[in-house]
Amino acid sequence: MQTTLPDRASPFALYSRVGAALAMVLCGGCHADHVQSMLHPASSASSEIAWLWWFLFTVCLIVLIAVMVLTYLAVFRRPEEREEKSPLGTRFIVVSGVLIPAVILLAILLASVKSQVALAIPETDVTIEVVGYQWWWEVRYPEEGIVTANELYIPVGEPVLLKLRSADVIHSLWIPNLNGKTDMLPDKVNLAWIAADRPGVFRGQCAEYCGVQHAWMALEVVALPREEFDEWVDARRQPVPEPDSETVQRGKEVFVEAACHNCHAVDGVFEGRRGPDLTHIATRRTIGAGMLPNNRGNLAGWISNPQAIKPGNLMPRTFLEPEDLHALVEYLETLE
Ligand code: CUA
Repeated sequence: MQTTLPDRASPFALYSRVGAALAMVLCGGCHADHVQSMLHPASSASSEIAWLWWFLFTVCLIVLIAVMVLTYLAVFRRPEEREEKSPLGTRFIVVSGVLIPAVILLAILLASVKSQVALAIPETDVTIEVVGYQWWWEVRYPEEGIVTANELYIPVGEPVLLKLRSADVIHSLWIPNLNGKTDMLPDKVNLAWIAADRPGVFRGQCAEYCGVQHAWMALEVVALPREEFDEWVDARRQPVPEPDSETVQRGKEVFVEAACHNCHAVDGVFEGRRGPDLTHIATRRTIGAGMLPNNRGNLAGWISNPQAIKPGNLMPRTFLEPEDLHALVEYLETLE
């Protein structure tokens, strides 16, 4: 029996591939909740950016269509017309080649300047320092005395100043729903700001290639009404509880025996600084900088073999007896 393979050069094969590529491009920005979309703004800054984007898109689309129509008319002129001078004359060349492009470029320049002015850093009451690491984010609230990682809590409706820098290579902070990108440099503090005009969770992403796990350098912004934000701050300032059971006490010992404390801090207890601060790890939404939901199973898996989950990150495997791993996770779960 003979089977025939589809002809790779057939028009159907070509169209289906082009169609699949187009569908990928069109769906690439889709997410049901739009938690990471600059076209679904949740602040005045991102509304401004979205407006500029649509303006540029529309202008460029009109120019593209005009150029394509003119190209079509030029290419498909009747043979007897080809030797003649352009029927449209010199004035057409001057208007369409000089005047119209000048007006379009000026309009784009003015629109960009308008957006630039609207994106200037406003007066802010809340300041957050964000430090980029390969591949996670340290988040500090200097006035409130809070250190956390991979999540930014902000009050709704209030602009927040961000002081950005990097501990190693260049990263870039981008929370598309809330504002544009700002680079994080190792040798200079860059200022940026965000605000959210409604409560919600917005996803951010490192926007500067920074190594093998660049794509998994994510963070979440949780925008809360002012009272809830204040409650969050108060809860973060509470000292971590003392172990209240044998298992939890054992877990705290394992934290030292397994050398976790060399890299991780727990406020008032351990002082490691190379990895994320774990003071209130139990209340975080994710682990591994947005990779996994924070739950017991994922925590245990991460501690046992972080390299299997996020290859290349600085945390080594930790070989623990099952009961010690259980106790360690139990201890971490008390850090609320
Ligand atoms: Cu950090 Cu890309």
